[in-house]
Amino acid sequence: MVRLDLLATLLAAGRVAQAVTANTPQIVPGAYIVEYENNLDTKAFLNSMKGEATLRKDLKFKLFNGASIQFKETDKAEEMAAKVADMPVIKNVWPVKRYPAPQHTVHYTGSGVKAAIEKRQAAGEPDMFTPHLMTEVNKFRDAGETGKGIRIGIIDTGTDYLHPALGGCFGEGCLVSYGADLVGDAFNGKNTPRPDSDPLDNCNGHGTHVAGIIAAQSNNPYGIIGAAQGVTLGSYRVFGCSGDVGNDILIAAYNMAYEAGSDIITASIGGPSGWAEDPWAEVVSRIVEDGVPCVVSAGNDGSEGLFYASTAANGRKVTAIASTDNTLSPALLTNGTYTVDGGGLQAFGFTAGEPGAWANVSLPLWTVNFNTSDAANSCDPFPDSTPDLSGYIVLIRRGTCTFVQKIQNARAKGAKYVLFYNNVVGTASVSGAVAGVLGVAMTTAEQGEAFIKALAAGSKVVVNMADPETAPKFLMNFNNTLSSGFASTYTSWGPTFEVDVKPQFSAPGGMILATYPRALGTYAVLSGTSMACPLAAAVYALVMNYRKTKDPKTLENLLSSTAHPNSFHDGRNAYDILAPVPQQGGGLIQAWTAAHATTLLSVSSLSFNDTDHFVPVRNFSISNTASTAITYQLSHIGAATGYTLPEDGSIKPDTFPNELTDDFATLSFSPAGNITIPPGQRKIISVRASPPTGLNAKRLPVYSGYVAINGSDGSALSLPYLGVAGSLHGATVLDTSATVLSRSKDAKNGRVAANTTFLLPPPGHSNDTAFSNSTDLPKLVIELAMGSALVRVDVVPVSNCSAAAKNATTVFGTKTLGQPADFPLLYNPRGTLEAPWDGKMVDGSYAPAGTYKFAVKALRIFGDPSLATEYDAGETVQFRIRYQTAFEKRNPVVPVPVPVTGRQRTRTTRNL
Ligand SMILES: *[C@@H]1O[C@H](CO)[C@@H](O)[C@H](O)[C@H]1NC(C)=O
Ligand SMILES: *[C@@H]1O[C@H](CO)[C@@H](O)[C@H](O)[C@H]1NC(C)=O
Ligand SMILES: *[C@@H]1O[C@H](CO)[C@@H](O)[C@H](O)[C@H]1NC(C)=O
Ligand SMILES: *[C@@H]1O[C@H](CO)[C@@H](O)[C@H](O)[C@H]1NC(C)=O
Ligand SMILES: *[C@@H]1O[C@H](CO)[C@@H](O)[C@H](O)[C@H]1NC(C)=O
Ligand SMILES: *[C@@H]1O[C@H](CO)[C@@H](O)[C@H](O)[C@H]1NC(C)=O
Ligand SMILES: *[C@@H]1O[C@H](CO)[C@@H](O)[C@H](O)[C@H]1NC(C)=O
Ligand SMILES: *[C@@H]1O[C@H](CO)[C@@H](O)[C@H](O)[C@H]1NC(C)=O
Repeated sequence: MVRLDLLATLLAAGRVAQAVTANTPQIVPGAYIVEYENNLDTKAFLNSMKGEATLRKDLKFKLFNGASIQFKETDKAEEMAAKVADMPVIKNVWPVKRYPAPQHTVHYTGSGVKAAIEKRQAAGEPDMFTPHLMTEVNKFRDAGETGKGIRIGIIDTGTDYLHPALGGCFGEGCLVSYGADLVGDAFNGKNTPRPDSDPLDNCNGHGTHVAGIIAAQSNNPYGIIGAAQGVTLGSYRVFGCSGDVGNDILIAAYNMAYEAGSDIITASIGGPSGWAEDPWAEVVSRIVEDGVPCVVSAGNDGSEGLFYASTAANGRKVTAIASTDNTLSPALLTNGTYTVDGGGLQAFGFTAGEPGAWANVSLPLWTVNFNTSDAANSCDPFPDSTPDLSGYIVLIRRGTCTFVQKIQNARAKGAKYVLFYNNVVGTASVSGAVAGVLGVAMTTAEQGEAFIKALAAGSKVVVNMADPETAPKFLMNFNNTLSSGFASTYTSWGPTFEVDVKPQFSAPGGMILATYPRALGTYAVLSGTSMACPLAAAVYALVMNYRKTKDPKTLENLLSSTAHPNSFHDGRNAYDILAPVPQQGGGLIQAWTAAHATTLLSVSSLSFNDTDHFVPVRNFSISNTASTAITYQLSHIGAATGYTLPEDGSIKPDTFPNELTDDFATLSFSPAGNITIPPGQRKIISVRASPPTGLNAKRLPVYSGYVAINGSDGSALSLPYLGVAGSLHGATVLDTSATVLSRSKDAKNGRVAANTTFLLPPPGHSNDTAFSNSTDLPKLVIELAMGSALVRVDVVPVSNCSAAAKNATTVFGTKTLGQPADFPLLYNPRGTLEAPWDGKMVDGSYAPAGTYKFAVKALRIFGDPSLATEYDAGETVQFRIRYQTAFEKRNPVVPVPVPVTGRQRTRTTRNL
């Protein structure tokens, strides 16, 4: 119950409502990305494959020459891929992985272009759009600077360029002037993409919102202003109306955006990783190295705690953008009206819930009491004196018990319609399915109190509701009284497993009003790092134009050093200590200050690595590009140190909010004392770090903070740093207690008892529905407490005298028939890996019928893959496999059911 109210507070203040779940990329069976060593063309390559593989996508680009291919026989794919990898003309082979559509929370959508009150931005009026006030973007707009001439490539769900505020056309001379649809509406990540030249988004919305954050024009009724209205946009559509996208398509989209001459590329897409070696991240890194800044949203998995960086944001040189909560919580409310004692029509706003059949509903209000501070209003059954409520809308204050309980109490007296009024700022969308109830909705606390006041005075209040789908909506801005300007609780935390600093800096992403496809409401309020990233892209455009440089490093260094770090906020309270660098990076970007800075640092952050690889001294330089000498004073400001692992000795990272301490590193600078740098010169500064002492190193404390650089010209820069006061190599990566044998039909990953027999489809028929429908495969469940760069699995024959045992070899001391298909797995995020097994081995052969167990080895972070001692090892119970025959197919042998034991998992599971 308390939980509900906490949620209410969070919602009203603009927090993301639901926990955002992690979505680990899945491997596409039989599909691989190959990169050629030289100028090989795909036709020649495919010819050499003698018809064994078909083309998924040619990836012939300036920075990447290769293709993604599909092996015709998925059964033999791993074997074939291994052969391809050995070909001298091949540089790299990676499995194709699918990434889910960008995660974000939709808080409010409009209803067509109908706005009850117009709040158009007039020419010459100052920019008061709060995400701009927070980032100094308003100063550019007020100075008439709009990023003219800069081309921003957006990789997303496409753009509704027919939207009036997004130019209304596509192509040369239009706001959205280039791009392509790489997939088509029906694409879901698993079927065949149907590319065409038109990147229109009329069914998803995410990309249209992103485009509006960058460049929405002022001809809209809600006063939305794009941060860089003068840019041209390129729209690369990589998602269909729903579903996933393969990294081969993402790689193609990035290269297309790069070759089309984008000055900046932005993507609000990602999946948990923590490894810069991920192929998609590598491709993005190459584009940055070639001079095009790439910003990628940091991810919405803040709830997972430290070390949960997302790809491609975690790529080296890729700029990962965290999210900060807006100072305002905009709401698009449906316009209803009411009369008091038959007087004049007055307007009010509400948010329809589920169910929401509010069209043509005009009824008097009734309430159980007139106490507007009744915390548990309507939690108890209504009194006997209650009239038949079928002719009323029942007005109920939110709080204490569930919405459903309150609705049930009203329904018990015949009510069909319930209007809640809030007990915190704003409104929320109520889900309250109770049989017989047709409509639920919520209005604001102030409005509810006004209604109650009239009812208490004995007046009759008749409320005219409206169809939320078609009625005009009006914009109501609530002050975010809770988390204004703090890092959003959902923003994903770094660093990477190799201690690269992530994220780089942040922009407003929580509760952002922007454009939406006309078909889905035309305008919407969304939350996510997806909304922060495009604002950062727009800021790059503004600063690029102002400083006349496109160099990614220069721009990243400027934005990081001029950003404002903020203190930590746990979703309820703010703390008197700076939020860790792995959460907020350099802090909230300040576009105008970055554009005008005359003091430039040579780096955007410093990593002192972990204790095993501790780099006690890191250097950076300060350049004074002003026309006079400047004296700089260097100092150190510590940020909260965060424990990765919980206090109870668990090997799994703690969830948000992590335990934080105010133990800081000590920094010293050389040269010491104030430093005077003549105009046009630079000086190298050495920063010596001593990690905080007295901490429990086993819990992997991540310390961080800022080098403050204050110039005699009034400049105030800060350079973020971080380090790990423990050994990542010492961290357990494999949770052996949760690495178990389960069955493919058990979504909850319960354990199977030892000696269970599995009847598998005949070799090569696991795709054959005649067999596979009824088959229950053994499923290996691997729980990674921390990321592992290499997970190998051995199929261990149990009996020494079995046929299989004769062919077994010994690897790292384990007798093995080899690895199952799909293993080893490289660069794994932490979390659950699930691998159902149909008996197929990595070489394409099938393990003979017999008794086996799986032995799992997960390489420790920074471990040497050639040494057995560098792996955490675990084993499953033994199990038997047999293969069905044609006879058994007709007369299936039903294996003896084995009770599913083991604990239920509440974490999201990932398939492979
Ligand atoms: C097996 O099934 C997968 C996934 O459904 C499909 O992509 C693949 O083409 C199938 N392979 C064969 C050989 O039928
Ligand atoms: C709401 O609807 C009423 C009646 O249609 C109208 O008079 C009023 O201007 C609308 N807008 C607002 C913000 O109330
Ligand atoms: C919202 O905040 C602004 C600026 O702090 C203040 O002027 C205004 O009165 C506040 N509005 C409400 C309704 O509290
Ligand atoms: C930390 O040290 C390891 C081992 O030398 C290295 O691979 C890694 O890149 C280092 N991390 C950083 C951020 O320098
Ligand atoms: C360094 O500079 C600051 C202000 O620029 C000044 O307050 C301080 O006294 C200086 N310190 C030394 C040691 O000169
Ligand atoms: C599984 O079978 C083996 C050999 O038959 C036996 O030694 C072992 O005790 C069995 N395990 C269980 C849990 O029944
Ligand atoms: C297996 O499932 C497929 C698709 O649902 C169906 O077409 C097929 O008839 C099923 N086969 C059997 C043997 O049940
Ligand atoms: C042993 O390996 C050989 C060669 O790979 C293969 O032909 C044979 O079928 C295997 N025997 C068993 C029992 O798996």
